[in-house]
Amino acid sequence: MSGITRVPGLLYGGDYNPEQWPEEVWAEDVRLMREAGVNFVTVGVFSWARLQPGPDEWDFGWFDRVLGLLAEHGVAADIATATASPPAWLVRAHPEVLPVTADGVRLEFGSRQHYCPSSAVYRHAAARLARTIASRYRDHPALAMWHVHNEYGDHVTECFCEASAADFRRWLRDRYGDVAALNAAWATDFWSQRYGTFEEIEPPRAAPGPVNPTQALDWRRFCSGALLACYLGEKAQLDEVAPGVPVTTNFMSMFKPLDYWTWAAHEDVVSDDAYPDPADPDAHVGAAMNYDLMRSLKGGRPWLLMEQAPSAVSWRPVNAPKPPALARLWSLQTVAHGADGVLHFQWRASRAGAEKFHSALLPHRGTAGRQWASTVALGGDLARLAEVAGTRIASDVAIVLDWNSWWALELDDHPSARLRLRDLVASWYAALAGRNVGVDFVPPDGDLAGYRLVLAPNLYLMSDATAARFTSYVDGGGRLVCGFFSGIVDEHDHVHLGGYPAPLRDVLGVVVDEFRPVPDGASVPVSLGGRAVTATMWSEWLEALTAEVAGTYTSGELDGRPAVTRNAYGEGRAWYVGCHLGGEIGLVLDEALADAGARPVLDAAPGVEVTRRDGPGNSYYFLLNQAGRECETPAPDGVDLLTGAAVRRTLHLPPYGAAVVKTARA
Ligand code: GLA
Repeated sequence: MSGITRVPGLLYGGDYNPEQWPEEVWAEDVRLMREAGVNFVTVGVFSWARLQPGPDEWDFGWFDRVLGLLAEHGVAADIATATASPPAWLVRAHPEVLPVTADGVRLEFGSRQHYCPSSAVYRHAAARLARTIASRYRDHPALAMWHVHNEYGDHVTECFCEASAADFRRWLRDRYGDVAALNAAWATDFWSQRYGTFEEIEPPRAAPGPVNPTQALDWRRFCSGALLACYLGEKAQLDEVAPGVPVTTNFMSMFKPLDYWTWAAHEDVVSDDAYPDPADPDAHVGAAMNYDLMRSLKGGRPWLLMEQAPSAVSWRPVNAPKPPALARLWSLQTVAHGADGVLHFQWRASRAGAEKFHSALLPHRGTAGRQWASTVALGGDLARLAEVAGTRIASDVAIVLDWNSWWALELDDHPSARLRLRDLVASWYAALAGRNVGVDFVPPDGDLAGYRLVLAPNLYLMSDATAARFTSYVDGGGRLVCGFFSGIVDEHDHVHLGGYPAPLRDVLGVVVDEFRPVPDGASVPVSLGGRAVTATMWSEWLEALTAEVAGTYTSGELDGRPAVTRNAYGEGRAWYVGCHLGGEIGLVLDEALADAGARPVLDAAPGVEVTRRDGPGNSYYFLLNQAGRECETPAPDGVDLLTGAAVRRTLHLPPYGAAVVKTARA
């Protein structure tokens, strides 16, 4: 069993949109799915207008026949609730369903995702459709999973209409209880923003100048929650009508608008849509980071790649195809990072519509040509890896990721507008990935106990409680590396007074006297462990209190001052990195990794990515040659499941080649 659905082995398939095709084509679809080894498809994602042609009209006959064909051919269905694009009749009868921008523009029908998350009409109609679908198909032999909506927050993440404003006020009342508490949290004495009643409050619509930062932060929290409420409204119907069927909604990787920690808690299976750009030579690193996050969102349980492009997408300015070997490698990479299925957008390439030039498992040319050969080959590869399903990944290192801090960091009017959380995290992640050190992500209130090393590339917003947990983690023997501009404000975006980063000062043993963001194009030289490196974007006037100095600025006003420090605290140790080192952060991480006793999964050849999944009796080493040139790499002794060949100490990998070596449990 894969563990994530009733379907055994790894899942393979994609979005299937039969409503775009005459019925004669469906028989060919299911025949070819079988030929390619497809065992799982997502159906009905954009079928609302076809399933419910009018307020009280339903047309399920065609959908019954589609699901019947799938069941007959042994293809399991991830049945969508079909609620991502409300039909024309609904928005014409209730124009207030359409979302409104911060500038007051109501967005029109004619694309997709045109709904206000707080609209009672939308939520009611969506819940009704979800219930109707669940009631009809709960016992269907094809059913394996429910797919709620599609990519919440794609296109529309916020709505500024009157219904949203009222919902925001209700949310604020729940959060603060009375307006005095809100005034205190929002610091409304600044610029005379004091409110007398909740009724005076509006969403942060277009305004003459900077809006209240706590209002903006609360708005981000509210918007993530409003979409979550839509999801929960549908899920409640599914759980009531069809208990026991796993429920998912597809995420969009490390997506700023939605706090996926909160969301994942309400999913049975985490699923993700990933579209790394084949034109970007480093895309696989960012992809790996996203996959590690997806695995971490439910504490390491296998997740599902719900969508990727078999080759090119259609929505970038220039849409590069994936060379077949790269497409295969990137598919295997998702399994390497804990996915138990590789699904695609989409099964059959659309003939018309906005996505007609998006690649598909079955292209416009049909079964002649290279894409279909790749489609069939991938089905074979995934079948050979069936026994990997359900196995887990153990990591020594955790990166702390907090959406609240992310939102707050990227508000306006900060020392530098250049700080972007995803980029900061990615630069640290890339250093670990280059060393093949396995990484999990943890939320700020997550359990740190199992990790040798915890990294906080940036946690601008930090409650006293989180700081206390970090402090006791280090006190008890943990290793912590903390990046600049962390521990600066509390949960209301109010500065922690007394010297930055006040709540972490003891554990880090430093105080920051002044932020010194580095102008664009400039850099600051730093000496780090005897190496000359450069910092860009950020530097600080840092004073070591109890910490030792590990790196020093070597010119200008900061000459001789600490840039990187390490502090023995209790049984553990904590590093502070006061500047942006880019890829050179690896030098600090090397020291912390060694001190923590955290090891790479395997010392492989440069450019070979390695992960390990562990089952009850076996381990599976994924060796992925991301370098684009052939190589000879050290490898564990075992059997390559992709070829059946025995492996002894080394492996030859062609450009973008891969091996999955099965060994006795490591
Ligand atoms: C997203 C959507 C799909 C499709 C693809 C195209 O992932 O969920 O419906 O639009 O993008 O890449």
